[in-house]
Amino acid sequence: MASVRLHQLSQTFGKHIAIRDISFEIPDGEFWVLVGSSGCGKSTILRSIAGLEPITSGEIWIGDICVNQMSARQRDVAMVFQNYALYPHMSVAKNLAFGLEMRQTPPAEIRDRVTQVAQMLGIEHLLDRLPRQLSGGQQQRVALGRAIVRQPQVFLLDEPLSNLDAQLRSEMRAELKLLHQQVGITTVYVTHDRAEAMTLADRIVVLSQGRIQQIGTPAEIYDRPANRTVATFIGDPPMNLLDASYRNGLLWVGSRYWGCSRNLQNQLLSYRDRTFEIGLRAEAIRLTTADAGRLAAHVNLIEPLGRETLIKVSLLAPGNEEAARSSRAPTLDIITADRLSLQIGETVGLLFEESNLFIFDGESGRCIYTPNADTSPIVA
Ligand SMILES: Nc1ncnc2c1ncn2[C@@H]1O[C@H](COP(=O)(O)OP(=O)(O)OP(=O)(O)O)[C@@H](O)[C@H]1O
Ligand SMILES: [Mg+2]
Repeated sequence: MASVRLHQLSQTFGKHIAIRDISFEIPDGEFWVLVGSSGCGKSTILRSIAGLEPITSGEIWIGDICVNQMSARQRDVAMVFQNYALYPHMSVAKNLAFGLEMRQTPPAEIRDRVTQVAQMLGIEHLLDRLPRQLSGGQQQRVALGRAIVRQPQVFLLDEPLSNLDAQLRSEMRAELKLLHQQVGITTVYVTHDRAEAMTLADRIVVLSQGRIQQIGTPAEIYDRPANRTVATFIGDPPMNLLDASYRNGLLWVGSRYWGCSRNLQNQLLSYRDRTFEIGLRAEAIRLTTADAGRLAAHVNLIEPLGRETLIKVSLLAPGNEEAARSSRAPTLDIITADRLSLQIGETVGLLFEESNLFIFDGESGRCIYTPNADTSPIVA
């Protein structure tokens, strides 16, 4: 086992800069998740660590060795790809043993390790089958087993669950977490699935367009997003954002306004002539009657989710209900556990506390105020 350290890693393909100036250090034994939308550079980082592609600039350290000049094989990492890439003509047992055979591991040790890993993953009864005789989840387990059996210093997993159906995915997610607790190997896991990132990670690295946006524990990323990109990427539904302004000690959204605490006024002093956005998590908004709310809105959609209900609304400008129904009005998502007798088309009031507000700079998107006033946002 070993730590993994990237120092100012950049990767360019022709004129396209896939990743820029990526630096972080994963302590030995931790499970880190790289998350971001398609094309943001997740696989490029993983492939660079694995040594599958020469890097343009920077350094990659595994433990106290700079591995830049080492081949993929010398790096002692095991990578699991999205499409498993099992050897189709080999049995499960052979698939598991193959990497060890290539490294001239003694046959008795191979047998022991394969048996142990097969037990750990609950696939002992499948050892004689070919990959095509397995379900998706079973193939996935074999792919993971093939990586575990090698006892590498580092695991690199690239969207390993994305071919599975929703239920199997969540089962495998739980298994992966348990497995990591058992084997404790330093893991870099790539996904574009935010829920997967939140549930699996010791720390999450949020990427956008080849750059790190923020590094933090799942709670830090959720409670103190560094910027608008992170706030609207992590969380389901994403954070609601509304254009706002600050005049005469009052916070304005459209034609509605309300007073702010001394603390928030201080934060907003420099925003008297500048635009900003307020952010509200879906669960921070409560519904009331239109005139009792801080904001009024038009109900567009009601989605019962079982334990909770997701309500989609658009902001109402006074005297202009039409605008709320058009695509121009700002929309918000609200999550509530209450059983409300709401109708689509109804007008409602939105209530929230100042202690639930996030504030983002209108130009840079940086988060300048989080609900927890004791803590300033963590900037990457
Ligand atoms: N070998 C390559 N040649 C040219 N461009 C590449 C190459 N590999 C990746 N890219 C580009 O680099 C960027 C990052 O790609 P990468 O595969 O790392 O994204 P990703 O975050 O893994 O996306 P996805 O979630 O879709 O897998 C993309 O714009 C991609 O088109
Ligand atoms: Mg990828």
